[in-house]
Amino acid sequence: MSADPAGVTVRVPAKVNVQLAVGAARADGFHDLANVFLAVGLYDEVTAAPADELRITCVGPDAARVPLDATNLAARAALALAERHGVDPAVHLHIAKDIPVAGGMAGGSADGAAALVACDALWGTGASRDELLAICAELGSDVPFSLVGGAALGTGRGEKLTPVEVGGTFHWVFAVADGGLSTPAVYGEFDRLTAGTDIPEPTASPDLLAALRSGDPGALAATLSNDLQPAALSLRPSLADTLAAGTAAGALAALVSGSGPTTAFLAADEEAAEKVAAGLAASGTCRDTRVAVSPAPGARAVRRTYSPPG
Ligand code: C5P
Repeated sequence: MSADPAGVTVRVPAKVNVQLAVGAARADGFHDLANVFLAVGLYDEVTAAPADELRITCVGPDAARVPLDATNLAARAALALAERHGVDPAVHLHIAKDIPVAGGMAGGSADGAAALVACDALWGTGASRDELLAICAELGSDVPFSLVGGAALGTGRGEKLTPVEVGGTFHWVFAVADGGLSTPAVYGEFDRLTAGTDIPEPTASPDLLAALRSGDPGALAATLSNDLQPAALSLRPSLADTLAAGTAAGALAALVSGSGPTTAFLAADEEAAEKVAAGLAASGTCRDTRVAVSPAPGARAVRRTYSPPG
């Protein structure tokens, strides 16, 4: 057995924003945020293995909608690490995709963070945590959080993270919509809807942080908020029906996940979550439902193989 792995598989979670406070558009086009991320136990797995050239493959229910070219954040992560360390980026990145695509759950960001950790282990580049976080921040606003997982407050454009304490397990149901929503389009709609209004500085809600610490789903339900929700609903009005169906099925709270169109429902416990999922499925207002718990760990290697497959 050689000391160098022939393949490294990294598992990485999805996220839901339990608070997404959005400020006015900055000069660079981004928006300052107070973004409370919570990692949820829906996972993609990215396997890095040596290849003749950089290539990406993807399997999963939404695989056909995943770009396999250099726009994929997994490819950009591999190229960024290779360039910094003078490594040939000839790697096969295989994505087993379970996180909804373009759904507001940071699935693309997750694959970027996972590819970075996988390539670092495969190539033995030994990047420090700080270097990995810096590369993640270059790749996108949500990518650093995919690396760290758990729960965190993201400020700046969401990339500056401070850990947040979570005192228990929260049970979620996610309703997957048909198709995706473009994040820039949703921020653009936010700008349109708020034009001419006074937009306050985004700040984290002390009540929400206390609710996360308490582990009490009732307290968290009362404090969930997403400033992008009106914009997502404006672009996709049918999401209101999905939110209403989940609430009618017993969810403690319902909100759009990030920029959507996935909707998130907080349940009192595991049994209630199953009921909410069944009610949503029966309502015909979404394409699929998923049950998951939070918090979940960030991107980390779960498998190493030491001989090439097959
Ligand atoms: O950072 P990321 O590449 O994920 O951002 C995608 C797009 O979302 C940006 O180009 C911008 O339009 C919007 N965005 C924003 N403010 C943020 C994060 C994202 O306006 N804080």
